[in-house]
Amino acid sequence: MRHIVKSFYGNTVLNDVSFSLEKGHVHAIVGGNGAGKSTLMKILTGVYRKDSGEILVDGKNVDFSGYSGAASAGIRMIFQELSVVPTLTVVENIYLNHEEKKGLFNDDKNMRKDAEKLLDRLGIDVPVNEKIASLSVGYCQLIEIAKALSEKVKILVMDEPTASLSDTEVTRLFNIVRTLKSEGVSIVYISHRMSEILEIADEVTVLRDGKHIITGEAKNLTIAGIINYMLGDTGRNAFEYHERQQIQNPGVMVDVSGLSVDNLVTDVSFHVNKGEIVGLAGLMGSGRTEILESLFGIRKIQKGKITIEGKPIEIKNTQQAIQAGIALVPEDRRREGLVLTHSLKNNLLLALFERVKKNRLLIDGDKIRKISEESIADLNIKTNSIDTPISNLSGGNQQKVVIAKWLKNNPKLLLLDEPTAGIDIGAKGEIIKIIEDYAGRGNSVIVVSSEISELAAMCDRIVVLVNGRKTKELTRNEIKNEGVIQHAIQG
Ligand SMILES: Nc1ncnc2c1ncn2[C@@H]1O[C@H](COP(=O)(O)OP(=O)(O)OP(=O)(O)O)[C@@H](O)[C@H]1O
Ligand SMILES: [Mg+2]
Repeated sequence: MRHIVKSFYGNTVLNDVSFSLEKGHVHAIVGGNGAGKSTLMKILTGVYRKDSGEILVDGKNVDFSGYSGAASAGIRMIFQELSVVPTLTVVENIYLNHEEKKGLFNDDKNMRKDAEKLLDRLGIDVPVNEKIASLSVGYCQLIEIAKALSEKVKILVMDEPTASLSDTEVTRLFNIVRTLKSEGVSIVYISHRMSEILEIADEVTVLRDGKHIITGEAKNLTIAGIINYMLGDTGRNAFEYHERQQIQNPGVMVDVSGLSVDNLVTDVSFHVNKGEIVGLAGLMGSGRTEILESLFGIRKIQKGKITIEGKPIEIKNTQQAIQAGIALVPEDRRREGLVLTHSLKNNLLLALFERVKKNRLLIDGDKIRKISEESIADLNIKTNSIDTPISNLSGGNQQKVVIAKWLKNNPKLLLLDEPTAGIDIGAKGEIIKIIEDYAGRGNSVIVVSSEISELAAMCDRIVVLVNGRKTKELTRNEIKNEGVIQHAIQG
């Protein structure tokens, strides 16, 4: 890709970026939220048209006018915003738009067989007739990968493929990447997890604010060095634990006793004090998300007692949870947390309606404007204005809007599911700081994260879950050693 330029509505998001990918290599692209990584790759794969510049594949000029053109030339992308269709089954998703035929009809039997073979090769353990809607985000991501590999690929772009994966699945994914590489497939790997980059990539390209900063061999780079290139001299904080002042005699905010949910969580008990941040650690399928969802009234609690500030409460639906002062920032924010066609301002308004209404009919426009502008400043959200549709923001910036939406609502108990997945390392530090300040005001937080270093950076205590049961509780002193957490969640 030579001298690529791209603007949206007069806003230049790629400014003369050149990028070259060697056959059979893994080339990582890193950069802050909104740096232009996804846009550059969407231009390669025909999703967006470039304004100017040249693209050559195998030395020949190409100019795809849509994704299907690129895909049939063997250039495929695993999208950051998952493109699987929830109402279809696994096999239907994998072969969507390139169904295997027998005469005029779809050859269902063969597709099922081939899909099973493919999933087996990739080590993905899901029945092919399962509906996507019933799978966790992590599995959706694995199906997305399987879909991209269901036809011959020459170039595979992976945009944040591990955002919802735990370490075991990441290891599996890396094995897939290494196999593809040995078969001569060229891979572009976009990730905010620095340690992954250095483990898997041959070359690394850093983008910042739509400009190419550097391309270098991974073996000559360090995490600290890459972060410096990414952040420039903006001096933003990286990702580390800050001792916090503990509240004296805090009292218990929430007590969960003998919680069982479907067949996924069994007899789990723990409590969270006021001002405390407690982590739930475990592998995919360990019941972490299900615990949060049951506390927010999305999943039925089969057994168990929950008290908030000493008072027993019943949580049968989300309404009751919100009334009890609970908020959830869900894992799949694009599916559950935002109205993408609405502006940032209107998305905040959805959660804050009670606070900004003037009377029964009118809302206080100035107030919602002020809250929106505060959120942009607090969370460093990159957007042209508070009226820009959310769908125009980069992946990470969309996530910040969801977090802003619930923080501004001042819940007593904030449930966070993978709060910084897909968020760049500079903003991660900022978000953690915001969550810590929020807890420091006497509120409580339960956080689920697949990134051990993130749990280590923010939790006062960690509840370890294996196969839906609590197996351990780690104190702050034990958390300091990331290896202990890593070890505990393996069961
Ligand atoms: N369809 C679009 N319309 C308008 N602006 C867009 C569109 N797509 C992307 N942008 C803008 O282009 C810029 C680059 O976005 P891009 O999605 O490429 O960032 P990114 O590097 O992938 O970030 P992230 O790490 O958050 O995913 C952002 O400022 C974004 O708001
Ligand atoms: Mg992106």
